[in-house]
Amino acid sequence: MDLINRPRRLRDRDILRDMVRETRISKSSLIYPIFIKEGKGIIEDISSMEGQKRYSIDMLGHALEDISKSGVNKVLLFGIPEHKDEVGSGAYAEDGIIQKALRYAKEKYPNLFYITDVCLCEYTSHGHCGMLNGHRIDNDTTLPLLAKTALSHVEAGADMVAPSDMMDGRIGAIRHELDKNGFHGTPIMSYSVKYASAFYGPFREAAGSAPSFGDRKTYQMDYHNKKEGLKQAALDINQGADIIMVKPALSYLDVINEVSSNFNVPVAAYSVSGEYSMIKAAAKAGYIDEMSIVCESATSIFRAGANILMTYYAKELAKYIDEGRIG
Ligand code: PBG
Repeated sequence: MDLINRPRRLRDRDILRDMVRETRISKSSLIYPIFIKEGKGIIEDISSMEGQKRYSIDMLGHALEDISKSGVNKVLLFGIPEHKDEVGSGAYAEDGIIQKALRYAKEKYPNLFYITDVCLCEYTSHGHCGMLNGHRIDNDTTLPLLAKTALSHVEAGADMVAPSDMMDGRIGAIRHELDKNGFHGTPIMSYSVKYASAFYGPFREAAGSAPSFGDRKTYQMDYHNKKEGLKQAALDINQGADIIMVKPALSYLDVINEVSSNFNVPVAAYSVSGEYSMIKAAAKAGYIDEMSIVCESATSIFRAGANILMTYYAKELAKYIDEGRIG
């Protein structure tokens, strides 16, 4: 057969396929989320996210050792406080759960890079990410509290802060507060393009952060929109965001692609709880092969243009990279 172009030539053997891969994944671009809870001696399963756990600070070492051993060295911390109130004061308390966890972890496991989720929803009695004015979520009175939260995390040792609240102007407010206190060098990874998504369902059970009334559609984005995502990213970059995040990941690969083509900043993607739990459930039912699906979906997120991936599968991915299955 007179065929000059035979794409199959480059697919002939493993070693050749490896050489011509267009997308490479390394452990250095993975971030693992961890849930930390007030109390003692707690390592408890999260029923909505099989395989994920909540840890009290005295047990946190187990999680941090495990993740270090896998070769992933970045974690994203979420706090579950004992008490909640109208103004989310646990989020910015000197002895708040995240602040205490950071002081402990930075001293015991200084080689890890600690990122904190900056938001009020886990700490407010109403479960919303901002201050209430009646049943409305008030933007401008929330900003100083977010700035205060970010500062208290950095003072306790956070290496980077990741605001996830979606209030207008929060990146500027946080940057200003950090700079005013001498933390010019601490980067902000903004959850800039964060959609109001049903994919967060399992997380809200994990963190006890479901809103007690209404939903988050007046602050998180409408999933019909992509240009609006570019607007959000541009605003955040202008206010000093160092890294832009798109969240969720798998249903938003087009958005990841567009953001990464349009801006000269690193793009992070958060493969959220619903994405994780869907894979877990389908694998458990025997419908799919978990490892293959995890590798394929993580690779697709990087192929779309992400440089960084937050995923509950970080440890497994690190293992698959070690085994040469992906990367
Ligand atoms: C806090 C926050 C949420 C997630 C990350 N930060 C929940 C939400 O916005 O309702 C979701 C993470 C996940 O689903 O894995 N605002």
